[in-house]
Amino acid sequence: MNRGDLTHLAALPRSMGESARLVERTREERLARSLRGKTFPALSLSVRNAWLADYHPDHQLDGKRPLKVGPDRGSQVPVELADLLESRPRAASTHFLNQESELLKADLVTDVLVIGGGGAGTAAAIAAAEAGAKVLIATKLRHGDSNTIMAEGGMQVADQECDSPAQHYVDVLGGGHFSNNADLVEALVTDGPKILRWLEGLGMLFDKYPTGRMKVRHGGGTSRKRLHAAGDVTGLEMMRVIQDRADALDAITVSPFTPAVELLTDDNGRAVGAVLERITGGKPLVVHARSVVMATGGLGRLHFNRFPTSNHYGATGDGLVMAYRAGVPLRDLNSCQYHPTGIAYPERKVGLLITEKFRGLGAPFLNRYGDEFVFGLETRDVTTAAIIRECGELDNGIRTPDGGVGVWLDVPLIDLIHGRGTIEREFPGRFKEFLGKGIDIRKLPLLAYPTLHYQNGGMVIRTNGGTDMPGLFAAGEVTGGVHGLNRLMGNALLEILVFGLRAGAAAAEFAQENARSDTPGLSHLQAFIEQLDQEKCDTTHVGPQLLPTYGAIN
Ligand code: FUM
Repeated sequence: MNRGDLTHLAALPRSMGESARLVERTREERLARSLRGKTFPALSLSVRNAWLADYHPDHQLDGKRPLKVGPDRGSQVPVELADLLESRPRAASTHFLNQESELLKADLVTDVLVIGGGGAGTAAAIAAAEAGAKVLIATKLRHGDSNTIMAEGGMQVADQECDSPAQHYVDVLGGGHFSNNADLVEALVTDGPKILRWLEGLGMLFDKYPTGRMKVRHGGGTSRKRLHAAGDVTGLEMMRVIQDRADALDAITVSPFTPAVELLTDDNGRAVGAVLERITGGKPLVVHARSVVMATGGLGRLHFNRFPTSNHYGATGDGLVMAYRAGVPLRDLNSCQYHPTGIAYPERKVGLLITEKFRGLGAPFLNRYGDEFVFGLETRDVTTAAIIRECGELDNGIRTPDGGVGVWLDVPLIDLIHGRGTIEREFPGRFKEFLGKGIDIRKLPLLAYPTLHYQNGGMVIRTNGGTDMPGLFAAGEVTGGVHGLNRLMGNALLEILVFGLRAGAAAAEFAQENARSDTPGLSHLQAFIEQLDQEKCDTTHVGPQLLPTYGAIN
C-alpha cells in the first residue's frame, strides 16, 4: 500500500477513520514484534478469573431468574430461556391435549425420528440408516438450514505429528474450566481423526498445501495448531458432503418446514415419536417412532441480554423446551458463548461472525488508540470479557455512527505476516462480502464486538448420545457437557459429527431391540402443565418458539 494514500479510509465514517489511521501508524511495530515471535502477554489466572467475574455476561445476575418447575428447578437461567422452559405448550394450544387419543394416531411411522436437519441431525440420520433403520428427519426449515452452515473457521482434530488426542483432551478441559464431562471429551478427541478421514472420503475440500498436506491453524486456547478449514466456509462445505451422503441413502426421508413441537411418550416413560407443526399451516403431523434423536441446535435467536447473534434464523432452543417438559435434565443452562468477534460495523451486518481464524493468523485486538489490550489467542470467554471491559468501563472502544461500539481487529497485518494474497485466499467469503460494502479488509481493520454465538449447556447425555429417557438420544448444540462452561473454536463442528454418528447408531440399535409402542401420548405434558399451574408460572409465552420474535432487535 502507498503509505501516503489515505483514500481507503474514506470507506469509514470520519471518527472511525481517524482511529483506523492510528492503527495503521502502529502496524509496523506490531509486525516487527510478531516476526520476532513476541506476542502481547497472556493474562495471569487470577486476572482472567476476575475479568470473567466482572464483565462476562454469564457471570452477571442481571437478566437471569431461577426456574420454578422441572428437573432443574432452582437453576438461574437467562430470563428469555426460563420463560420458554416454563411456557404454554404449543400442542396444548392446538387442542391436542384435550382430544381423544384418535388424534395421536400416526400420520407417519418410522424406526428413528431425527428432529433437526443440521450437521448433528444429518450425521445421526446417516449412521442410523447405515445401521439398517428407516429414518425420518423432521426439520424446521430446509434440510441443512442450521448453525452448521454458518460455521466459518474450522474443525479441531489432532492429526499432526506434534499433536495427539491426549493433548487435544487437555486443551478442551482447560478451555471449559475443567467443568466438562470428561468421558464426552474423551469420545470427542479420540473420534476426531476418524471423522477427518470420513469427511475426506465423502469429498470435503479442506485447505491443503500443494503437497497435499493439511493446513492447520491455531484457535484461541489451543496448545497446538489443529484447526482444519475450508476457507472461511468450513461448515457449509461440511454440510455439502454430509447432505449428499444422506440424499444417497434410500432409508432416509426428509420432512422440511415441519418443526417438532412436542415429544410423544408412552406409558413406560419412553420417547416414541413427536408432534410436528407445519410452518405453512394446516393440521399438525403425528410421527410414531421406535426411537428419537434430538438435534435441534442452539438458541442465539433468543438474544439473551439483547445481544446480537451470529446464529441462523431457526436457532430458538426448541429441543431444550421439548426435552425439559418430558423430564430430561439439562446442564450449564447459564453458560453461553459470546463470540468475541461479531461484526460491529457496518450496522446492517451487526452480530454476524468474523471468524476466529483471523486472530489465529495473527490479527490482534486494538482499542481506539491503536493499542493492543489482550493476548490474541486467549479463550473466547476471557477475550469477550476483555472487550466488554475495554468498551465499557475503560471507554476505549470505537463508536459507530449508529450508537454501536467495538474494537479493531487488525486484519491487514495478516498479509504482512504471511504474504500478500493470504487474506483473499483464507477468507474468500468475508473478503468479498466486505468489499461489496466498500470495505477492503486487506487495507482496513474490522470493527468487532461480542455476539451471542453458542449455547454451552444443554441436554445431559452419555457417550452414545443416550439420555435419561429411554429411546431418546441427542447430539450437537442442544446437548451440554462436552465443552463445559466455555467451548474452544472448532470443537463444535467436530462434536456434531462425533455425537451425531454415535447417537444415530445407538438410536438404530434401540429401534431394533424395542418394538413399536402402542401407547404413544402426551401424558408428560399434562403433568408438566399441572406443575406450571401449581407454581403459578406466567404462561403468556408459547413454546417452543420456533422463529425469532423481531421488534426491538433486528
Ligand atoms: O470463529 C469461528 O470461525 C467459529 C468457529 C466455532 O465457533 O467453532
